[in-house]
Amino acid sequence: MLVNGKHYRTVWLEGHIVNMINQPVIPHRFEIHQCMNYKETAEAISNMIVRGAGAIGATAGFAVAQAVFEASENDGFTFIENAVNVIRNTRPTAQNLFYAVNRVHNVIKDYGTGGVIQKEVRKKAVAEASAIADEDAVSCQRIGKLGASLIEDRCRILTHCNAGWLAFVDWGSALSPIYTAKREGKRVFVWVDETRPRCQGSRLTAWELKEEQINFVVITDNASGFFMKRHEVDMVIVGSDRIARNGDAANKIGTYEKAVIAKENDIPFYVAAPTSTIDWDCPSGDDIPIEERSEQEVLGIVGRDENDHIRTVYITPKGIKVRNPAFDITPAEYITAIITEKGIIKPDELKKLSKDQD
Ligand code: MRU
Repeated sequence: MLVNGKHYRTVWLEGHIVNMINQPVIPHRFEIHQCMNYKETAEAISNMIVRGAGAIGATAGFAVAQAVFEASENDGFTFIENAVNVIRNTRPTAQNLFYAVNRVHNVIKDYGTGGVIQKEVRKKAVAEASAIADEDAVSCQRIGKLGASLIEDRCRILTHCNAGWLAFVDWGSALSPIYTAKREGKRVFVWVDETRPRCQGSRLTAWELKEEQINFVVITDNASGFFMKRHEVDMVIVGSDRIARNGDAANKIGTYEKAVIAKENDIPFYVAAPTSTIDWDCPSGDDIPIEERSEQEVLGIVGRDENDHIRTVYITPKGIKVRNPAFDITPAEYITAIITEKGIIKPDELKKLSKDQD
């Protein structure tokens, strides 16, 4: 991704430090947030300084590598096991988090059960975490190439939440085909759902599309049906945080509604995700854990005031109760196809990609 003409990744490891683009302050400021140890990195995942399935995964992999660095001065493998538990408990829905933590943990866990960590173990952890981040960028670029074949000139695409560069290491999932189509010379237009409560659409997707000079408008979450019914949407592309074996997909709260309305209006509904988002051990969407986040996210809204200060203002009566599920499940029957780095697959053919058949 290019920000002000400079190439960035969403998250990267520099020595023992995990660097990441600070997402809560976008679009008001562009800042790099640094995490000096695995606990700070785990907190950055929970607080959503970094967010989006792929970016969470890459960050979690780096956090395990950081824990391996820290462990030599503490109590070796016991320290690492504790750290792995802390990292696993940051955000429950994004499969990429578990995918990355397991991969880094698996390459080091057989080296011992306590005591001093050898240099070789640290090297292995860093190499695996870096490979996960690199693979994420390559897969997303490939999703872009494959997905762009579905996009015709003058296509009007609706997206929900942010599944762009900021949600991965680079390129993104749902937005990658749009970026590629634009580079291929196609004229594309994007309907951007605001995505309450944290406004990943109106803050992050809008910022990315502006940087990429792509035509778009932001709409409120409840306006998409209006535009679909008026034949002003040609396709929907969203990302996913976890895809079950039967093709059901978890994504940002509100996605399910878009899928139902798209089907009602004969509009193709695509989910774009790397295969690292597929949870082969999860039979169906009913088995995907759904994160419920703080009520503060619904009670208030964060923005920039006239003095350019970032502030929260509260928008409800005091003392009320709210519920804040962060994701919902779109059943496979509403999904036209899943755009992965290995091909564009119908949800009921997902098993063709299963690791058992690789
Ligand atoms: O709560 P978030 O912002 O991490 O949720 C992100 C989404 O729901 C994205 O659409 C999803 O991660 C798919 S793209 C990586």
